[in-house]
Amino acid sequence: VCLLQVILWFRGFAMKTLPAEMISRNNFSVWSILKKCIGMELSKIAMPVVFNEPLSFLQRISEYMEHTHLIHKACSLSDSIDRMQVVAAFAVSAVASQWERTGKPFNPLLGETYELIREDEGYRLISEQVSHHPPISAFHAQSLKQEFEFHGSIYPKLKFWGKSVEAEPKGTMTLELLKHKEAYTWTNPMCCVHNIILGKLWIEQYGTVEIVNHSTGDKCVLNFKPCGMFGKELHKVEGHIQDKSKKKRRVIYGKWTECMYSVDPKVYDAYKKSDKKTGGDSKKLKQEHSCEGEEADEMPDVQETVTVIPGSALLWRITPRPPHSAQMYNFTSFAMTLNELEPGMERLMAPTDCRLRPDIRAMENADIETASSEKERLEEKQRAARRERSKDEEEWSTRWFQLGTNPHTGGEDWLYTGGYFDRNYTDCPNIY
Ligand SMILES: *[C@@H]1O[C@H](CO)[C@@H](O)[C@H](O)[C@H]1NC(C)=O
Ligand SMILES: *[C@@H]1O[C@H](CO)[C@@H](O)[C@H](O)[C@H]1NC(C)=O
Ligand SMILES: *[C@@H]1O[C@H](CO)[C@@H](O)[C@H](O)[C@H]1NC(C)=O
Ligand SMILES: *[C@@H]1O[C@H](CO)[C@@H](O)[C@H](O)[C@H]1NC(C)=O
Repeated sequence: VCLLQVILWFRGFAMKTLPAEMISRNNFSVWSILKKCIGMELSKIAMPVVFNEPLSFLQRISEYMEHTHLIHKACSLSDSIDRMQVVAAFAVSAVASQWERTGKPFNPLLGETYELIREDEGYRLISEQVSHHPPISAFHAQSLKQEFEFHGSIYPKLKFWGKSVEAEPKGTMTLELLKHKEAYTWTNPMCCVHNIILGKLWIEQYGTVEIVNHSTGDKCVLNFKPCGMFGKELHKVEGHIQDKSKKKRRVIYGKWTECMYSVDPKVYDAYKKSDKKTGGDSKKLKQEHSCEGEEADEMPDVQETVTVIPGSALLWRITPRPPHSAQMYNFTSFAMTLNELEPGMERLMAPTDCRLRPDIRAMENADIETASSEKERLEEKQRAARRERSKDEEEWSTRWFQLGTNPHTGGEDWLYTGGYFDRNYTDCPNIY
């Protein structure tokens, strides 16, 4: 019975597609809209819906959970350095869904929520849009067996730089492994979408991600490399795990679009010394990178796969995209399922759930006109509600999250107040 269930579930998952293929963007001139807005924050520019993907940003951040099996794995390991390297792989895997995803997710409305229950992966997640200006999304995932909690709040700052759009995902991710009484925190890397006006769209992620184990102060430093002059570094991630005396314990390397490996630092150094071709690279000066620059507009053709150093252990490998992905916003199989509304679900979910947003639903059905007019209607409704509140000098109150202090970093953070799954929606606003 169990095997049969697994097979049925797997077939269901493997066959998931969206109800319609995407509309070509070829006939829309972004340039005519954007030329007036260079250097502006993108959230203030009204972009035509055709440049969106049919998911809310709340659903997009749920994609961090695609590789939850890595958290389960980390929970099961007894050695703390082993755990740290799997957590590092999880942090990298969480941004891998960005690969070739140039569609802009819908901005969540204030008070919008998204729930995701995955019994097969043993977790449930709830997220809420807790602020509109600046836009802040808070999420909280917990395992059904009290093994872990993963939460954070994200303030995506988007900037338009003429040829590219830069996204800075401000906000802290916190992963707590409850059995080990460990907490790890980090911030996601910067992201840049190149050639939004002309040429091939491509995505670069860059910057340093530091994963800190707050029990000891040990950390993992990961460097998402900018593409560089000849594209040799495209998609590369390299770093190491160090203990509190700053001694290197493990080297981590790979590509966020492909796979991540871990190797002993001595083996790594010996390999680099013997390999003259790459030996010079590691001594190159670290360059500050910005999306603003002109130099890296073309996506480099060199697409070498990761060279595996003998003695390395594989930590994570990306799941291939489904065959119809290119016609469906380059979604992963996981992303294809996020907006599904199964029979009976509507009665259970909060009335603020993204799945009930008419503009996203219309876009998913490739009905761009309805999507545009509904998006406008919802945004106007949101503005009207804000005007009402300011007339009555009323403050917006969030429903499931509250601004507090992250106990591990001491910084400001939005924390889940609990209770969503009791399914009492009396105080939920009417936002659609
Ligand atoms: C784009 O415009 C051309 C010329 O007006 C037209 O023939 C074509 O069907 C349009 N394509 C799409 C996808 O709308
Ligand atoms: C993290 O903190 C725990 C608890 O103090 C400690 O046992 C462990 O060595 C640390 N792990 C890493 C990888 O730094
Ligand atoms: C999907 O990926 C292809 C190949 O890189 C790219 O040309 C296309 O623009 C991408 N589509 C979207 C919607 O991001
Ligand atoms: C639901 O929540 C409201 C307040 O938010 C409370 O007044 C009410 O008693 C709750 N209903 C149930 C059945 O718990």
